Amino acid sequence: MPNFITDKDGIKRYLITIKVNGDEYTRLVKANTLLVNFLRDELDLTGTKRGCELGDCGSCTVLLEGKPINSCLMLAVEADGREITTIEGVAPTAELDIVQEKFIEYGGLQCGYCTPGMIMSAKALLARNPKPTEYEVREAIAGNLCRCTGYVNIVKAIMAASGQEVQ
Ligand code: FES
Ligand code: FES
Repeated sequence: MPNFITDKDGIKRYLITIKVNGDEYTRLVKANTLLVNFLRDELDLTGTKRGCELGDCGSCTVLLEGKPINSCLMLAVEADGREITTIEGVAPTAELDIVQEKFIEYGGLQCGYCTPGMIMSAKALLARNPKPTEYEVREAIAGNLCRCTGYVNIVKAIMAASGQEVQ
């Protein structure tokens, strides 16, 4: 466990340093602070969405050293010394990432609540497998639930981002 102090109310607060989207952040957090809450509430990175908080919906998906994880199932103290990428890190400049562009082009979103998590899962897939099959795309986003769009356009968008077209 990282170093801690005990505040005036007797609550332990742990000193953690996490690299997020290339920048290091050092903060004091409680032992039970979830990574998703740390990102949203402490760092104002609200692109990561908080949905079920049970590991079921995937809306809180971020990359931990390149691998997609549910940030509602990880404590901020567990991420101490680790590297996280959020949706904000996918397109740090004014230009959109290719996956984002294709989601727009193919209409792979409606409410967009699930979209950041979908994009993070897609990014992780394309990083390890630049030319996935449609089955592999569907498998990669199986943990990301979308309640409004259906998956046809989302799958098309991810396939198009890999340079492949599906009918
Ligand atoms: S909020 Fe993390 S999986 Fe639903
Ligand atoms: S666009 Fe995914 S839940 Fe609405």
